[in-house]
Amino acid sequence: MKARIVTLPGDGVGPEVLDAAVAVLEAVAERSGHSFEFEAQLIGGCAIDATGEPLPAATLEACKKADAVLLGAVGGPKWSDPQAKVRPEQGLLAIRAALGVYANLRPLQVHPALASLSPLKNEKLKHVDVLFVRELTGGAYFGAKTRTTDAATDECKYTVAEVERVTRRAFELARERRQHVTSVDKANVLETSRLWRSTVTRIAAEYPDVKLEHQLVDSMAMLLLTQPARYDVVVTENLFGDILTDEAAALAGSLGLLPSASLGEGKVGLYEPIHGSAPDIAGQGIANPLGAILSAALLLRHSLDLDVEATTIEAAVGHVLSNGPHSRDIGGKAGTAQIRDAVIAALDDVATPAFLSGL
Ligand code: NAD
Ligand code: IPM
Ligand code: MN
Repeated sequence: MKARIVTLPGDGVGPEVLDAAVAVLEAVAERSGHSFEFEAQLIGGCAIDATGEPLPAATLEACKKADAVLLGAVGGPKWSDPQAKVRPEQGLLAIRAALGVYANLRPLQVHPALASLSPLKNEKLKHVDVLFVRELTGGAYFGAKTRTTDAATDECKYTVAEVERVTRRAFELARERRQHVTSVDKANVLETSRLWRSTVTRIAAEYPDVKLEHQLVDSMAMLLLTQPARYDVVVTENLFGDILTDEAAALAGSLGLLPSASLGEGKVGLYEPIHGSAPDIAGQGIANPLGAILSAALLLRHSLDLDVEATTIEAAVGHVLSNGPHSRDIGGKAGTAQIRDAVIAALDDVATPAFLSGL
């Protein structure tokens, strides 16, 4: 198969982890006979520096024409002045909105070799396998903003249609998993959450084979740490999903490990690790590229329908986590390039005949 992938390296460690993910995709192409064409474009702080805009028109156009988009990270202290008129993060929100990718899938699994890195006792981490479905194009992120010298507002708005579509996505995904959806909201306080809850409850009736439970977000933050293995699919609104998934990353051992896939009704999916530009370690070649590499695997699965290839990358990552080397965030000494090379080498250890024939 031939595919065109736009890469958006962005800022900080973004280009470092994206280089590794692209190298793994190239290694997959070489072994399986597929052909992936990459086109790099600007987004975020580097785009502001070059063009004055966080999402230049050329980037948006290229993304819309691509089969899939793979993003590193945006932002950093250089562009973080609260008075700044234009911000790197606006580029990220704009590309998500423009591609209509309203469902952000953030899978969480805990590799046994890393269980000791989690602040939780090992036995709590057994069988942890959660798929967060974060609503990505609504809520406080996209509502009207106002600012005077002594006050500011961020409108949080959800329409029924926005809640319905992400709910359906969550239930469809749950059908393929353990048939359990937890919907997280703050319905005891927020009107948007009451709309969320009644909409999710109504849509759930279309999926009698899937069990639904509701959980308030504050207690969910606690339950994620005390009973993480209880959860299957967790669907929630934009801001709650952002916060809960960084919390979830602590269970896996590092923020550098978690991938994401952002999907809509359109053909183009957006794939990015959940971490940011990590300014504290940028430029040192020590960022963990596994979240980006696993995002590339999700790209193959969801945008290119290459499930065998995606599973092969995931198995290669598992092999590296079991046998090393490990990057610093998970207690090792290896740099980004060493992890990249180890994953590529592991592709050959885990390759199956189906993978090698590109079937
Ligand atoms: P961050 O995710 O960049 O970093 C948080 C901590 O995790 C840091 O200590 C960092 O070193 C560590 N970390 C993150 N990724 C890592 C990796 N791959 N390997 C090893 N360690 C890693 O979050 P932050 O510091 O709150 O934000 C920094 C900037 O990133 C901000 O400008 C923020 O807006 C931006 N950001 C961008 C994205 C994105 O582009 N998708 C996501 C989150 C934050
Ligand atoms: C993420 C990030 C972004 C978000 C920021 C950088 C806009 O934290 O992808 O999780 O909040 O969605
Ligand atoms: Mn985040």
